[in-house]
Amino acid sequence: MTNKPFIIKEATRKRCHIFEIDEESGAKFVQVNSEHFAYLREVKAIDFSIYFRIGLTMIEFMKPAEHSKELLEQISRAIQKEYAGLEICIRKIDRNRLLAIIDSVRRQKIDVLLDKEPTLDRKVLEIFGNLSNASQLVVRGGINKDTAKVVEASAAHLVDNLFDSQSAMATLSRMVIHDPTLYDHSASVAMFAALISTQHLEQNVSKKEAAIIAQCGLYHDVGKTCVPSHILNKPGKFTPDEFNVMKEHAIFGEEELLKVIENGAPIHESVVRVAGEHHERWNGKGYPRGHCGALHAENLNGIHLYTRIVSIADVYSALLMKRVYKEAFEPQDALLIMEKNAKDDYDPIIFPKFLNAVVASLNALQKSNEKGRILFRDEDGLLKESKK
Ligand SMILES: [Fe+2]
Ligand SMILES: [Fe+2]
Repeated sequence: MTNKPFIIKEATRKRCHIFEIDEESGAKFVQVNSEHFAYLREVKAIDFSIYFRIGLTMIEFMKPAEHSKELLEQISRAIQKEYAGLEICIRKIDRNRLLAIIDSVRRQKIDVLLDKEPTLDRKVLEIFGNLSNASQLVVRGGINKDTAKVVEASAAHLVDNLFDSQSAMATLSRMVIHDPTLYDHSASVAMFAALISTQHLEQNVSKKEAAIIAQCGLYHDVGKTCVPSHILNKPGKFTPDEFNVMKEHAIFGEEELLKVIENGAPIHESVVRVAGEHHERWNGKGYPRGHCGALHAENLNGIHLYTRIVSIADVYSALLMKRVYKEAFEPQDALLIMEKNAKDDYDPIIFPKFLNAVVASLNALQKSNEKGRILFRDEDGLLKESKK
């Protein structure tokens, strides 16, 4: 099904500054996705313009002086209608302004969340905010030497501060459920992946390695910039063709990362492998290459250790989040779903450790909350839950 084209109405022509761009001047603009746009609706004023881009036509749809709920509503509706080829843009030079707004709104939301759920760990939420800023830079601006340095620093900060936090996994899980607007998929994958590796792997992952695994999480979906947003945000099931386009993000991510590494960005080579491999599954039924089992000298088509960690974090994070095509799952339900597919999908040594760690973290938080659901294993080793 093709989307409707966006027709410029007479009223829009009268009110807006409409102009044509070429490739060179078009490069001065950058797309804003609907999740980030939502942050703009939470502030009283903005100090930069918002544009609609249709092919080579730009419409300056909102100037700072006209910041109003009505106009923002109109823009939101246009995003939801998914007109063919319509993009919401800002000028590249205003990107830091947008990031500053996202950061300040996020801080306020974290304060509100902590008021509501005082047992959550503030430090974990702040580290999440920091990682989220780094992941926005990657998504918004593409990767270059400077963004790679910010990502590297954020990952190191995460690992330095999170090594011993027992409440981290539960705090992160609860945060996504309580305030979905705080969600940043790549940041949460980075945190879950680092937590799995630092706290729960027996093979003594060093801090340096854990920081690389966190970076693998931050970059794993970088190839999604190649997927058109009407496919990325499609409410229903993908057609086979759409799914094929979606699948390309793994290889595209690999290529993007290789390019920036060649240009001198400080990114570890395993980050490339994880971006290309994060949809591979333990039984070989994943994509794009059908890698299977663990990578070692006799199984070169196996899946890298870092990927086996990141793919668990990736699926868990995606299940927690409400998307246009699915509801959000409570952490307990997400774990029960994952356990059902665990044999086919995940490393049989890492997955139970991840599961036990999240269960322990959630249960500890539930107990201090005096309410909620407790997961446990029965005498046959099956995951069950009891309600308090
Ligand atoms: Fe992905
Ligand atoms: Fe992902």
